[in-house]
Amino acid sequence: MKQLEIEFEREPVERSTLSYNKRLENLTRCDLSFIGKNGRNSLHNVHSFPAKFPPQLPNIFIQELTKENDIVLDPMMGSCTTLIEALRLKRIAYGCDIDPLSILIAKAKLNSINVEKVFQTGKSVVNLAFKHFSDKKSKKEILNFFDEKTLNFVDYWFRKETQLELYTLVQQINKLEDEQTKNFLKLILSSIIVTKSGGVSLATDLAHTRPHIAKDKSPSSAFEDFNKKLSSLLKNYTPLENPIFKIFHSNAKAIPLETNSVDLIITSPPYANNAIDYLRAHKFSLVWFGYSLENISEVRNDFIGNNSFKGKTFLPLPIRCMTVINKVQEVDRQKGMALHSYYTEMFLVIREMYRVIKPKKAVVIVVASSVIKGVDTLTHECLSDIGKEIGFNLIGINQRQLDRDKRMMPTRWKRDQTSQIETRMHEEHVIIFQKT
Ligand SMILES: C[S@@+](CC[C@H](N)C(=O)[O-])C[C@H]1O[C@@H](n2cnc3c(N)ncnc32)[C@H](O)[C@@H]1O
Repeated sequence: MKQLEIEFEREPVERSTLSYNKRLENLTRCDLSFIGKNGRNSLHNVHSFPAKFPPQLPNIFIQELTKENDIVLDPMMGSCTTLIEALRLKRIAYGCDIDPLSILIAKAKLNSINVEKVFQTGKSVVNLAFKHFSDKKSKKEILNFFDEKTLNFVDYWFRKETQLELYTLVQQINKLEDEQTKNFLKLILSSIIVTKSGGVSLATDLAHTRPHIAKDKSPSSAFEDFNKKLSSLLKNYTPLENPIFKIFHSNAKAIPLETNSVDLIITSPPYANNAIDYLRAHKFSLVWFGYSLENISEVRNDFIGNNSFKGKTFLPLPIRCMTVINKVQEVDRQKGMALHSYYTEMFLVIREMYRVIKPKKAVVIVVASSVIKGVDTLTHECLSDIGKEIGFNLIGINQRQLDRDKRMMPTRWKRDQTSQIETRMHEEHVIIFQKT
């Protein structure tokens, strides 16, 4: 495969001189795997997030298909990889997501911060929280901070001492007046909870979204972890300069933008079959920012790829989608219906992307297949058919290898070279559409 000759770190970058359509075609054939290449910078590393893009992936499309001040949108922005790359290349970045944690991440990462001010404020937040840690008042207050169900969850997953540390830290952060500093410190707090090892909670593996309780775990002090993260992160932190962006806490099925207003969309939806349950991990952090378990489960209903299909619409879909759905349904009716609901939701999202993208411009969707009861969901083929039915030209589908060391995937996906399905699980497909 040909590697497009683009130097990743050069910015802002001139596009190649080929026509737009030629560049689109080249992107269907070039090597998009970036195995062993480090495209991370301090902004991408602030908080763990499952199934993040390697930054080179959106970067290459943004460089090739847009110019300065063009509008780049990711309607399922997650940890904002697309938006950050767009802003680094001096484009205007728009993003949506329904996960409140994604919105917090966006507010903290995309706004410029005064690094020294955040560092000093963070230090004094820890000192003040430490002072209130042994107050009887804090111990009483924490009981009223959560409703009963949420408090039970907190009691199960966090030691009492950790609960008080987190509570007093949140109280001090909430008192801050400067929104940028406040958001950044909230993100630091969240990042010491949602970690590979379960951070300061009693969970063992949060970043893979399948937590297990480890009663014998002795989590480190939240004060210490907060201090450490503050120092290590801000030591090399380079905020974005004069970023122009808009973020929307909204459903990708109803993007709050005008028709024909966006120059490039690059996005990756969740997997089918709830393979990565974002909220299961993110609620460990969200409960500390005032979200109850009830609020969180309301959000879950709108999550694409969740397994519930109560009250959902089932649209008739292209033949290939219906064939895969029927195959799954023959083995497991519920899972078949959940897959039908997934493809229906994706139909509505792709139709919405078709509405907002400008004529002749590209929509890039990065997907991986899931295996449900032994049936391959053929996600890239099904979504391509859906896109064509909506009116897109399918320019091509590029295949990329996943870098297991970089992209956080469900743990059960072990590399087993003998299994064709397992091998497919380590590949992703990059679908490239163009609006007519
Ligand atoms: C694969 S992740 C995106 C990761 C992102 N590319 C990154 O680099 O961090 C999929 C995202 O879709 C979001 N999502 C799920 N259902 C959604 C919906 N109905 N509307 C908007 N976003 C949704 C999830 O919250 C999650 O952040």
